[in-house]
Amino acid sequence: MRDKLLKLKKEIIDQLEVLKQKTANSNNLELLRTLRVKYMGRKGELTQFLRQLKDLSQEAKQEIGKLANDIKVEVGEAFTQVQEEFLDDESGVNTDVSLPGEVSKIGHLHPLTLVQRELEELFKSLGFHVLEGPELESDYYNFEALNISKDHPARDMQDTFYVNVPGQKNSEQNLVMRTHTSPVQIRAMQKYGAPLRAIVPGRVFRNEAIDASHEHTFYQLEGLMIGENISIANLVAVMKEILKGIFKEDVNVRVRPGFFPFVEPGIELDIECRLCGGKGCPVCKQSGWLELLPAGMVHPKVLEAGGIDSKKYSGFAFGLGLTRLVMMKYNIGDIRLFNSGDLRFLEQF
Ligand code: FA5
Repeated sequence: MRDKLLKLKKEIIDQLEVLKQKTANSNNLELLRTLRVKYMGRKGELTQFLRQLKDLSQEAKQEIGKLANDIKVEVGEAFTQVQEEFLDDESGVNTDVSLPGEVSKIGHLHPLTLVQRELEELFKSLGFHVLEGPELESDYYNFEALNISKDHPARDMQDTFYVNVPGQKNSEQNLVMRTHTSPVQIRAMQKYGAPLRAIVPGRVFRNEAIDASHEHTFYQLEGLMIGENISIANLVAVMKEILKGIFKEDVNVRVRPGFFPFVEPGIELDIECRLCGGKGCPVCKQSGWLELLPAGMVHPKVLEAGGIDSKKYSGFAFGLGLTRLVMMKYNIGDIRLFNSGDLRFLEQF
């Protein structure tokens, strides 16, 4: 009986060793469970063996009984140890660290953000502050303070989304989704006074017929420089410097008269269309030039609305079409791609 018992113990330990040699996989735990049932379950071989002990003589019981008990404990511990090793494998503790890792997907910046940040750095190097203002703006800041009165025809060019304030009867208090970044000119002058150098990148909104170069939601970058003896020559010099910084080469520009109620005189600074090289294409409406930068000398009424003495100070302001500039920089032929959420477009940057 003693030999049988020792043989059974060896058989169990050998089988556990064989199981341990197998490469780690979740099936091993199942095999281990089956093995445990085979030997130590209710009808298991070792259990049956131990049951026979009660039929032995008192003397034999004492000798074999102790050995049987020791073997039961030893085999039980061996099962537990192998089970722990398998569980460690499953939880990855024994993962093969030399295997190549999985590359996690991370996002990247939108082309508009890339160029906006580049512009911010360029302007900061020229001493400009970067400011921001509300997208939902009062009619006063968006139009009135900029010398665009209620029935001024300039309002037609910037039709937008009006927002009624509940319970508010006075239409002068109505809010608008800002049509341009120019209202921040007034807010900046009121807050910081003169002299002042600031840019305001931001999102603007218009009720627009959408095509390859017109969106209802797009980005502008406002610029404002107020000081003594500031002139249009300063404006053109700053802009040529900035465009050179963006395109990494001299850019052909043309200046023509433009009208905006909040500047006097007003100009339009156009850049040669870089998509067609000035030959004409749908984006530049076959003209070879793209309207990029309306600008001018800040109107005295606007300076006064900002609390600045128009006799002592003058200044220039511009409203760069940021989205269109990005189109030129990356040769993007359709403005609608920016808000499309199309990953095939976005992943190119
Ligand atoms: C203005 O918005 C003035 N606030 C600019 C200004 C500022 C003039 C300071 C003088 C002094 P305008 O409506 O032209 O101007 O728009 C400015 C630029 O925004 C345009 O040159 C163009 O590049 C861009 N833009 C205008 N409408 C759209 C549109 N629907 N989609 C995309 N870009 C547009």
